[in-house]
Amino acid sequence: MSVAPLRHREPSCRDDFTIDQNWAGYTEEEHAIWRLLFERQRGILVDRACDEFLSGLDGLGIAADGIPDFRHLSAVLRETTGWEIVAVPGLVPDAIFFEHLANRRFPSTCFIRTRAELDYLQEPDVFHDIYGHVPLLMNPIFADYMQAYGQGGLKAADQDALHHLARLYWYTVEFGLIATPQGMRIYGSGILSSKAESLFSLEDASPNRIGFDLLRVMQTRYRIDDYQESYFTIDSFEQLFQATRPDFTPYYAALKQRPDYEPGTILPSDRVLHRGIGGYHAGKRG
Ligand code: PHE
Ligand code: FE
Repeated sequence: MSVAPLRHREPSCRDDFTIDQNWAGYTEEEHAIWRLLFERQRGILVDRACDEFLSGLDGLGIAADGIPDFRHLSAVLRETTGWEIVAVPGLVPDAIFFEHLANRRFPSTCFIRTRAELDYLQEPDVFHDIYGHVPLLMNPIFADYMQAYGQGGLKAADQDALHHLARLYWYTVEFGLIATPQGMRIYGSGILSSKAESLFSLEDASPNRIGFDLLRVMQTRYRIDDYQESYFTIDSFEQLFQATRPDFTPYYAALKQRPDYEPGTILPSDRVLHRGIGGYHAGKRG
């Protein structure tokens, strides 16, 4: 995930908060937890994850064998889109996070959840960070979007607009849905790394699924302690990339005059996706 409370730098960190993954130090139990999570998602994500994610996963060779070695992942990523993975101890300060993304470095935690936490975790772990985020970094458009986000973050901080930009990350990178000709699919990593939310986001009747609108998204608060009440759906990564291409300076100025919305709000101007649209059979409220 992204948006981070300021954290004290652990003594072993470098100035940019990176550490060594220490891949050789993982126990067999830790690898076994990875395999369990990986196998569960393999079944769930067929026809639920977008094709770009699934082909990225294949291309990376992130496998069921165990927690991947970041050096190996970085070697494949560098060849494909010029990204690499750096290990960090946990959430890092915003400026550090943005600086890494702006330089095509994705910060990942190293620790893995315990068996007692398979389904629920407060903080991102290596399964969320690697399995959830890294496959889409193999996609050229998404790879550019993530870098642009990092550059935009440094600018938003200067304009006191980080909370607006963070919502964009939340509702796209973490919890985004994409409407494809085959039906609604998941691309948000917070969903992709969660068995229960993978099902909930697509098939439950309760959450809203609303067509992506940049300012609307940046006005919408989010919840970090439960499934999302609203998901925003894009039609393509190209749409997302183009919508976020302009200089946000005038948008941030406009947002200062506009209200914030609660996560569950539906507006008259929202394009709400209903049952049956595009082969998508689980629209809002029955
Ligand atoms: N275009 C945005 C700006 O000028 C930066 C940005 C790009 C933000 C992509 C988010 C995603 O601030
Ligand atoms: Fe994340």
